[in-house]
Amino acid sequence: MKKLFIETLGCAMNMRDSEHMIAELNREDDYELTQTLNDADLILINTCSVREKPVAKLFSEIGVFNKKKKKGAKIGVCGCTASHLGKEIIRRAPTVDFVLGARNVSKINSVIKTKHAVEISTDYDESSYDFAEYRTNPLKAMINISIGCDKQCTFCIVPATRGEEISIPKGLIIQEITKAVKTGAKEVILLGQNVNHYGRRFSGEEAPCSFTELLQKVSKIDGLERIRFTSPHPLHMDDAFLEEFASNPKICKQIHVPLQSGSTELLHRMRRGYTKEWFLNRCAKIRSLSPAVTISTDIIVGFPGESDADFQETMEVLEAVRFEQLFSFKYSPRPHTVAAKYEDQVDATVASDRLTRLQARHTEILDEVMDAQLDSVHKVYFDELKPNGRIAGRSDNGKLVFAEGSESLLGKIVSVKITKTSRGALDGVVL
Ligand code: 5AD
Ligand code: SF4
Repeated sequence: MKKLFIETLGCAMNMRDSEHMIAELNREDDYELTQTLNDADLILINTCSVREKPVAKLFSEIGVFNKKKKKGAKIGVCGCTASHLGKEIIRRAPTVDFVLGARNVSKINSVIKTKHAVEISTDYDESSYDFAEYRTNPLKAMINISIGCDKQCTFCIVPATRGEEISIPKGLIIQEITKAVKTGAKEVILLGQNVNHYGRRFSGEEAPCSFTELLQKVSKIDGLERIRFTSPHPLHMDDAFLEEFASNPKICKQIHVPLQSGSTELLHRMRRGYTKEWFLNRCAKIRSLSPAVTISTDIIVGFPGESDADFQETMEVLEAVRFEQLFSFKYSPRPHTVAAKYEDQVDATVASDRLTRLQARHTEILDEVMDAQLDSVHKVYFDELKPNGRIAGRSDNGKLVFAEGSESLLGKIVSVKITKTSRGALDGVVL
C-alpha cells in the first residue's frame, strides 16, 4: 500500500477536491493517508490563491517538503495556485513532479505518471464527471452543485483559476446525496463558488432549475435531515429563496452572507451588484424570518479607494447585523484582477489599523452572542469523537458544541443544554 500526504488550504471546494483526488488515486492504486511527511510516497499540496501570502509561502514549503520527503517520493502542486501559476511552478521548483489545476482534478491518475505534467485548463468541464467515492467524514457529506464562477468581482482571482460557472445536473446531485445518506450522512453541505446562482448554465440539455427548487428537491430525500450550503451571494437572495430557507425544516439556520464592504460606492467598484441598503434589507429579512439564525460574513478592508468614511459604513453594517461569525481580510492585490490595476491603493498601515478595529469590535459582539447561549437547548448532530470521553457536533444554527459522550452518540441528533460558553464553542450536557 502506498502512502499519501495531502495538505489542503483554502475553501470547502478545495476540501472536496482533495477528497476527489484521494478517491481517484484509489481507483488505480491502494493509498493510505499519512500525517507524516517522510512516510509518504506521494505528497499533494492543494493550494489557494485568493490572497498573496499563501502563494508566497508555497515555494518555501516545497523546499522544506523536498528536504524531508523520502527518496523517490513525488510532489504534486494542485488547486488554485496550480491553475494560476502553471508551468511557472516547475520552472521555479523543478523538484515538483506535476501541476494539477483546480478544474482538472479528475486527471490526477494521468499526471502522476508523467514527469513535469501540467494540466491547468480552466475550460475543462468536470460538471458531469463521475468521481470515485471518498469521504473524510461519512456522517457529513460535501456535495458539489456547481463548478467555476461567472461573477467578475474586481478583487477576486477565482474566475481565473476555476473558470466559468457550470451547474451539475440535478439528477447527479440527487444521486450522490442519496448514496451519501445510505452510507450514514444525515447532513449534506452543498458547495459552489456562487451556490445560489445554481441553474445558470448546464453543459448538456437540462430543464431549468433554480437553487430554491434544488433545495426543495434535495429536502425530499428520505433519511437526509440537515442541509447546509456555501457560499451564497447576497445579490441572488431573492424573497423566494429566503422564504424557503426559513420555512424548510431540513435547511439549517446558518447562512453566509458575504458583505465585502459596507460602502455602496466601494461595492460598485468591487462589482458586487448590490448596495448597502440591499444587504441590510436581506439580513433583516433573514433575521425576521429565522430568529435563531447564525449569519456569517466576509469583509475586505483596505480595498483601493476605501476612505475612512467608507470604512465607517462597514462598521455600521457590523453594528446593524451583528454577524455571529466574521472572516476579515486585508485587501491583497491579485494578478488577473481589475482592482490590482486601480491607482488608489490604500496604505498598508491604514488597512492594518482598520482590520484591527473591525476585529476588536466584532470580538465584543461575539462575546455577547456566545454568552447569551448559556442555558439554551440546541439540537446537536454529533459527528466527531474527541479525546477524553468527549464528543463534538454542530447545532442546527452551526454552533460548535462539545459534550461528554461516547461512540453511541456519534451520528445522532440529540438535545443538548448549554452549560458553558466561550468565543469559539459551546459546552453542554446531553438531555
Ligand atoms: N484580497 C483579500 N481578500 C480577498 N477575498 C477574495 N479576494 C480577496 C483579495 N484579493 C476574500 C473575500 C472572499 C473570501 C473567500 O476571500 O472576502 O469572500
Ligand atoms: Fe482559494 Fe478561492 Fe480557490 Fe477556494 S476557490 S481555493 S478560496 S482561491
